[in-house]
Amino acid sequence: MVFDLDYLPPDILHRELQIADLAACLRPVLRDVAPGHVLCIGPPSTGKTTVVRYVLEKLEEHGVATAYLRCPVLRTSYNVFAKIFEMLSGKVPPQKGVPLFKLLDEIAELLEDEVLVVALDDINFLPDSVLNEVLMALVKSAEFKVGVIAIATSKGFVARLDAYLGSIVHFHEIVFPLYTRKEVEEILRWRVEHGFYPGVMTKEAFEAIVDLVVRNGDIRYGLYLLRRAGLIAERRGSRRIEIEDVERAREGEEVVALAKSIAALNSDEREALKIIYSLDEENITTGDIYAIMRAEVGLYYERFYEIIGKLERLRFIDLVFGRRGRGRTRYVVRRYEPKIILEAIRNYG
Ligand SMILES: Nc1ncnc2c1ncn2[C@@H]1O[C@H](COP(=O)(O)OP(=O)(O)OP(=O)(O)O)[C@@H](O)[C@H]1O
Ligand SMILES: [Mg+2]
Repeated sequence: MVFDLDYLPPDILHRELQIADLAACLRPVLRDVAPGHVLCIGPPSTGKTTVVRYVLEKLEEHGVATAYLRCPVLRTSYNVFAKIFEMLSGKVPPQKGVPLFKLLDEIAELLEDEVLVVALDDINFLPDSVLNEVLMALVKSAEFKVGVIAIATSKGFVARLDAYLGSIVHFHEIVFPLYTRKEVEEILRWRVEHGFYPGVMTKEAFEAIVDLVVRNGDIRYGLYLLRRAGLIAERRGSRRIEIEDVERAREGEEVVALAKSIAALNSDEREALKIIYSLDEENITTGDIYAIMRAEVGLYYERFYEIIGKLERLRFIDLVFGRRGRGRTRYVVRRYEPKIILEAIRNYG
């Protein structure tokens, strides 16, 4: 389904330069010559994984041996090479407890002097020792020829390389910048055209999603909103996705995100939050809330101020000074739509 996060789009838009650069770096592989190593670097959701998987697929079509590895799930060097073995042979890797060099021998045998292209996605998730051991085995291998494609959101992992390794391994950097508004729009429009019937997505709803993505910087969020808004429209029996559906899709997401902060509150704090978000008036002062809390929960003033302070620290409210009557007064400004907070509290209890 075109809104799934691991869906590989057949048309990767606005990454022509990165694809061409990566293909150029890897070209020697077609002559069985080891290529240089590459680092694909850029913020989340900028198409790094998508581009690398696309290029690996093309290489495979040319008969090149490739292995794509998601580093966050690989906790040991053995895991890494067992996975490579599995990808090359299609067989379950040899039993645990086989020394690493044996596994490397087996991989070398499978390759028969062909070049192996290994993509290490989210490489910065590898623990220090694994990172060094794996890269050392790959780049210094006397047994097989390897091109490494490292993928990361920052260069933090380079600083974690041992001095020796750091001095011998050089990565050609391919930068993945954030998408511009126009690019976001075109990438999401492709999904709309392939995922919904014509006319289902209204212009207003689509623009609202693009706005949200541009503000939040994440295409994945856009794919989530497209899918959610589609479901919400369907559920209310509408054949068109309207701006309200986008609003509701987005609320759902905020409610989920808020659950964590709400869980950090005790019952008095949750009660105070509920009161603040249930009041109809616009200009709520801390005094108004204290009066209600004292009547309902019987709180001391000091404790009340602790609660208000905590709600401010957790970014549920802002406190601003103002004047009302003669004295200085503190106003409580709500940072969320009341119905979002009230629903999140209801979900919690
Ligand atoms: N240029 C593009 N064309 C079409 N879809 C794209 C493009 N760039 C990203 N996407 C889509 O956005 C989502 C995120 O892209 P991808 O997983 O490639 O990002 P990433 O750079 O690897 O992010 P992270 O650093 O978080 O792993 C994917 O669902 C992908 O299909
Ligand atoms: Mg990725």
